[in-house]
Amino acid sequence: SESKLRLIERHIRAFQNFPKEGILFRDICPILKNPACLTAVMDLLEEHVRNNHQQVDLIVGLDARGFLFGPLLAQRLGVGFVLVRKKGKLPGATVSVAYNLEYGKAEVEVQEDAVTAGQKVLIIDDLLATGGTMHAACELMKKQQAEVLGCMVIVELKDLKGTDRLKDQKVFSLIQY
Ligand code: PRP
Ligand code: HPA
Repeated sequence: SESKLRLIERHIRAFQNFPKEGILFRDICPILKNPACLTAVMDLLEEHVRNNHQQVDLIVGLDARGFLFGPLLAQRLGVGFVLVRKKGKLPGATVSVAYNLEYGKAEVEVQEDAVTAGQKVLIIDDLLATGGTMHAACELMKKQQAEVLGCMVIVELKDLKGTDRLKDQKVFSLIQY
C-alpha cells in the first residue's frame, strides 16, 4: 500500500503569491481534512519521538498551526501540552521573546508557570520557513530553563535555511521542499 509519507505529500497544496507576491505557500489544511492522512502524520511523529527521545515532559506547540498537531502528539505520548502564543493572547504572568520578521517585529509568549526549570520539552509547529518563530520559541524555553530536546515540523522549506538558525537544536521534518 501507499507509504505514509506519500499519503502526506499528496495532502499538501501549494498556492502561488500568497500571502504576498512571490511567495509559494504550502497549505497543510488537506491533511486535517483526511483522517487517514492525519493519522499517518501522527504515527510518524510519535514513532520519531519514541525512537529518538527517552524522557519527554511536555510538548510545546506554536501559534497557530502547531496547536493542531501538538495536543494530538502530547496525548499519544501521555504528556501535557503547552501553548506558545503571539503576544497579548495569554492571561496571567507571562514571559516573552521578541524576534525579527521579514518586515517589522513579532513577539512570542508563554505563561510563566507553563514550564518549570529542568523540564524536557519538544517544540512542534506545522512548518519551518526561516526558523525565526521556532528560534524565538527555543529562546523562550531557555528563559524558563527548560531543556529543548528537539524541534518538529510537518514541512520544512529548505531554501530558507531554517536549520541554520537552529544550529544547536535537533530539527525533524516529515516533508521537505
Ligand atoms: C507560519 C508557520 C510557522 C511560521 C514559520 O505561521 O505556521 O509558525 O510561519 O515561519 P518562520 O520559520 O519564518 O518563522 P504564521 O506566522 O503564518 O502564523 P499563523 O500560524 O498564525 O498563521
Ligand atoms: N506555508 C505555511 N506557512 C508558512 C509558509 C508556507 O509556505 N511560509 C511561511 N510560513
